[in-house]
Amino acid sequence: MRLIQITPVVIMIALLGIGAAAAADSQAEILKEKSRAAAASFQDTLRGHLMSAMKAGGTLAAIGACRETAPEAAAKASEAAGATIKRTSLKVRNPNDAPDAWEQATLEQFAARKAAGEKLATMEYGAWVDGPKGRVYRYMKAIPMGEKCTLCHGKTIAPAVQAKLHELYPQDRATGFAPGDLRGAVSITWPATQR
Ligand code: HEC
Repeated sequence: MRLIQITPVVIMIALLGIGAAAAADSQAEILKEKSRAAAASFQDTLRGHLMSAMKAGGTLAAIGACRETAPEAAAKASEAAGATIKRTSLKVRNPNDAPDAWEQATLEQFAARKAAGEKLATMEYGAWVDGPKGRVYRYMKAIPMGEKCTLCHGKTIAPAVQAKLHELYPQDRATGFAPGDLRGAVSITWPATQR
């Protein structure tokens, strides 16, 4: 008799639990899609700035352009998306781009996946992460090294370029990369209300 009374309640609670999990899953899918689009448009913008600066003034002048436009582009992309968008790396040039613990772990995960043979071009990861402001959705998209990138991030860098980089970034660790390497990642954090 008691069992008969309790069972529907248990089933209902179980269903509510499943429902909540499904809602979190579908919300994660939506945020992942939005993250993909925001990361792609942010990278397009950066590439555009870099290419026009290189064309206009060469590699040396483009360093200054990168320094000014990269943080600006990140701020604009964040505002447009309603999320925090940045770039990070295991070896950063700008100390402001240093990874936090979750980003560090995800970059290491990317490096391991690459070592296991996965392509960087489509590599991404998203998850619900508990942080100081509650549970938030976080997403990262790998940034592969391209041929052009070696001018400022490669193994052999023109002396004048190297000198300028050293002057602006005395703690620069973002050199020595080869095309195809994992250069870093775009990292997106959605506000806690986006659940
Ligand atoms: C003209 C020189 C130059 C070229 C070419 C260049 N970068 Fe950079 N890169 C910079 C500078 C300068 C910064 C630091 C920007 C800042 O201060 O915010 C930077 C920062 C970055 C960062 C942010 C993480 C960090 O180390 O601070 C990533 C990721 C990155 N570059 C990837 C690339 C990729 C991928 C390419 C090729 C498509 C590329 N860069 C080409 C100069 C360059």
